[in-house]
Amino acid sequence: MSGNGFSGFDHSPDERTGQAEAFDAIGPRYSEAFPHKEGQLAAGRWLLEALPPDSRILDVGCGTGLPTARQLSDAGHRVVGVDLSAGMVELARDNVPKAEFHQRDMAGLSAGGPRALGLFDAATAFFSLVMLPRREIPEALRTIHGLLRPDGLLALSMVEADVDDCPVPFLGHTIRVSGYLRDELRQVVEASGFEITGEHLESYAPASTDVPPEIQLFLHCRRRA
Ligand SMILES: C[S@@+](CC[C@H](N)C(=O)[O-])C[C@H]1O[C@@H](n2cnc3c(N)ncnc32)[C@H](O)[C@@H]1O
Repeated sequence: MSGNGFSGFDHSPDERTGQAEAFDAIGPRYSEAFPHKEGQLAAGRWLLEALPPDSRILDVGCGTGLPTARQLSDAGHRVVGVDLSAGMVELARDNVPKAEFHQRDMAGLSAGGPRALGLFDAATAFFSLVMLPRREIPEALRTIHGLLRPDGLLALSMVEADVDDCPVPFLGHTIRVSGYLRDELRQVVEASGFEITGEHLESYAPASTDVPPEIQLFLHCRRRA
């Protein structure tokens, strides 16, 4: 059992506080620094084409709610966003009034646990698993797996990088990020109970940040039983 009461997750409260404080402070500047969201919007469209009307969708690490929670909510789906940062949750509530948002650590989302969120038809995790140390990413994926209905869909994205819990300068703050090269990411996702049904890559240069251009990996996944 880890400090947060969920087996498999093993982080110190300080690690989480640092990440949350950085995103609280970054706030709306996140959207300004990353205005090009073509890959993310395309992954959202994949979900919209695949899901029946009025589906229930979990947005893990929803950030400001833009563009994903808004894209899915505007299409008539019931969106529940969770984010570690209180500031991000506040922005998301303003940006997407029809969706529901909670300040929650993705490590604490197990299906039947306290403050259960219920089951979902689909989930998104765009650049949020990046924020965990590698040792926590498989458990986070298994937690999402447990929150999905059989055959539920998951759209996720990561930055392609062979790094683990690496401090990087980000909009005047230091955040810690992890990533994989593409084959390893596929292996981690498949080993966590998902079939990968599609993928695409985007080469991406942030507008105003001190990090270099990156390759973004988008995976379309289906929950295996
Ligand atoms: C890079 S941003 C991506 C936001 C959004 N998904 C998007 O694509 O615009 C990562 C988000 O993950 C959140 N986050 C970081 N660690 C988290 C955790 N342990 N649980 C939930 N959210 C977390 C951050 O607060 C931030 O809003």
